[in-house]
Amino acid sequence: MTKREMSIVFNGERVRLVPLGLRHLDDIWRGWNNPELKILLNGVIPDAYESEEEWIRQQIRLMEQRKNFVFVIERIEDDEFLGLCGLHSINWMSRSAELGVAIHDPQNWSKGYGGEALRLLIDFGWRHLNLRRIALSVYAFNERAVHLYQKLGFKIYGTAHEANFIDGRYVDIHKMELFREPRD
Ligand SMILES: CC(C)(COP(=O)(O)OP(=O)(O)OC[C@H]1O[C@@H](n2cnc3c(N)ncnc32)[C@H](O)[C@@H]1OP(=O)(O)O)[C@@H](O)C(=O)NCCC(=O)NCCS
Repeated sequence: MTKREMSIVFNGERVRLVPLGLRHLDDIWRGWNNPELKILLNGVIPDAYESEEEWIRQQIRLMEQRKNFVFVIERIEDDEFLGLCGLHSINWMSRSAELGVAIHDPQNWSKGYGGEALRLLIDFGWRHLNLRRIALSVYAFNERAVHLYQKLGFKIYGTAHEANFIDGRYVDIHKMELFREPRD
């Protein structure tokens, strides 16, 4: 039995979610410092290889503590690493969590992978974690991500104006949320 077969995996049609592990370090590292990607996450600030390794170890500890769940998004067809998605800062009393997602290689954007991965992640949040609310933050200029989140049912509940300095300008951050049950 392979390591993948031993771990819990969520399968979609074209992508699967696999729990993050140290074996993913080199895949994550490749392309991580690409400004085209970083500008959409938290700015063009380089990270060291060792920082990424420490980040994975930290995520594993947080998963053990049931505070975070981070998954690698893999393409089923060829087992290729596509990116990461996860539920963070889980508040069990409020049954709420923060969502994060990145398809790392820009060549894989707008091919439906992110949408399918997020449907699997959100289903995991409702069905297995018993969450009732998933929230996220997204740069207002990231129109692809905002479009996808809205398509998945997320609503903008607020905007932090000029909250971050990215690539020479101050940018707005939309706060979005999705509820398991529709609210009146
Ligand atoms: C955001 C992200 C996860 C979305 O995943 P993806 O696989 O690219 O998205 P999908 O292909 O599933 O869906 C993208 C949708 O946006 C649409 N889209 C693409 N470019 C767009 C644009 N400039 N403006 C508006 N909509 C756009 C696509 O047409 C598609 O919508 P449709 O299904 O209605 O046609 C991915 O692009 C990514 O990782 N980007 C870089 C990191 C990032 O921005 N992370 C989110 C930070 S909050």
